[in-house]
Amino acid sequence: MSSNRGNFSSRIGFILAAAGSAVGLGNIWRFPYLAGQNGGAAFLLIYLICIFLLCFPIMVGEIAIGRAAGSDAMGSYTKLGNKRWGYLGLFGILAGVFILSFYNVVAGWAFGYFLEISFGDLLSEGDFGSFFGAYVNDISDNLWFSLGFMILTALIVSRGIQKGVEAANKIMMPSLYVILVALIIYSLTLPNAMAGVKFYLIPELSEIKVQTIFDGLKQAFFSLSLGMGALITYGSYVSKQQNVVSSAAVISIADSSVAFLAGLMVFPLVFSQNMSPTEGPALVFMVLPEVFSDMGPILGRIVGGGFFLLLCFAALTSTISLLEVPTTYLVDQKKLKRTTVVWGLAILIFIIGLPSMMSQGMIPALNQLPFYQGRDFLTFIADMCDLTLTIGGCLMCIFITYQWKVKNMDNELAIGNAGYMSSFLRKYLHFTISYVCPVLLGILSILIILDKFFGLSNIF
Ligand code: PHE
Repeated sequence: MSSNRGNFSSRIGFILAAAGSAVGLGNIWRFPYLAGQNGGAAFLLIYLICIFLLCFPIMVGEIAIGRAAGSDAMGSYTKLGNKRWGYLGLFGILAGVFILSFYNVVAGWAFGYFLEISFGDLLSEGDFGSFFGAYVNDISDNLWFSLGFMILTALIVSRGIQKGVEAANKIMMPSLYVILVALIIYSLTLPNAMAGVKFYLIPELSEIKVQTIFDGLKQAFFSLSLGMGALITYGSYVSKQQNVVSSAAVISIADSSVAFLAGLMVFPLVFSQNMSPTEGPALVFMVLPEVFSDMGPILGRIVGGGFFLLLCFAALTSTISLLEVPTTYLVDQKKLKRTTVVWGLAILIFIIGLPSMMSQGMIPALNQLPFYQGRDFLTFIADMCDLTLTIGGCLMCIFITYQWKVKNMDNELAIGNAGYMSSFLRKYLHFTISYVCPVLLGILSILIILDKFFGLSNIF
């Protein structure tokens, strides 16, 4: 693609950035609580099946589309298909805007917890459950934390692909692994840690319910940043020398390994306190501070601060990619200046996120939506975004199969990968992209809609 758009400087730069997009709050905040609610190991099993059966082929497809077209999500679908398909790209870009709007709120909580554990006296609170409830209800603090987080994201994205996105990920991703491994080693030494490991690693097949499958699927999509054009966008900055299939494999493995390791850190911590793993979204904010507080004032600050710093790094590498998607779109399509676009979008998305921030108790009408089984606005937006990802993934497969054609995808994938045409992976990708993914994702998306609005999973 034209050099003035910029490119990732190297294969490792791209892999780290894409893995940075994938590894986020989804892995360290959401994966453990969904696993905790869905039987631990049973959830892990379903999640891994979704990753390898459904998500890996979709990731390859997205990167191939981006690199072949060398344009933003909407531009790529338009170029390889037609104007109507372009709307699928636009749909993804909008999903990204909404994901960032609520994601930045949760990132703000993590940022606030990091500061208040490391430098304040959060750990001397008596009741962490009520503290968290009050904390997210009163937005006077976290308004600033999430604003700070958005500014940090915008500062990095405005520096461009190599100097901003790539450089930030090259520092944060390795640091994230180091902090994670250190925390796992520590948590495994705690009393009763093995009960947590058992809950997490030995599956009870009877725990697999419809809900487990829905949650496993949506988590796999969200976690790999699929279905909304993030990887089409990053793919458009990938050079033609790179092997897309093997890069996608490395990214998928890097992402699922962080989710796996996050579980291996969280469950021993939770079980060492004889706490319940089914706490839901508050799990890392309510249960873990209890654990950190028991460690005493100094160790608690170090380990607890380390954990929330880890969460912030992970979130930041993802918010960068979420902001990059609409940025690339406006720069490519509307020929606007990158810096203007980045700051304009950051302000707009921050404002779109305000109702989510205020839905945690501050405004009762947003806290209990009557049309959404009494759930809050943040959950509503998050669920709708999850749904657009699976639908987006399904439509992308239909696009490749019927519009762009699998043979064109093959030609793209063979660039930078000499053995591709005769490989078994090629057959696997054809079969999954043309049949398995669209059929399963289509059926599951419909079932998830029925579940969200009519409580389908309660029937089973
Ligand atoms: N994958 C990110 C996470 O796990 C979230 C994300 C979704 C980022 C979609 C970009 C696009 O936290």
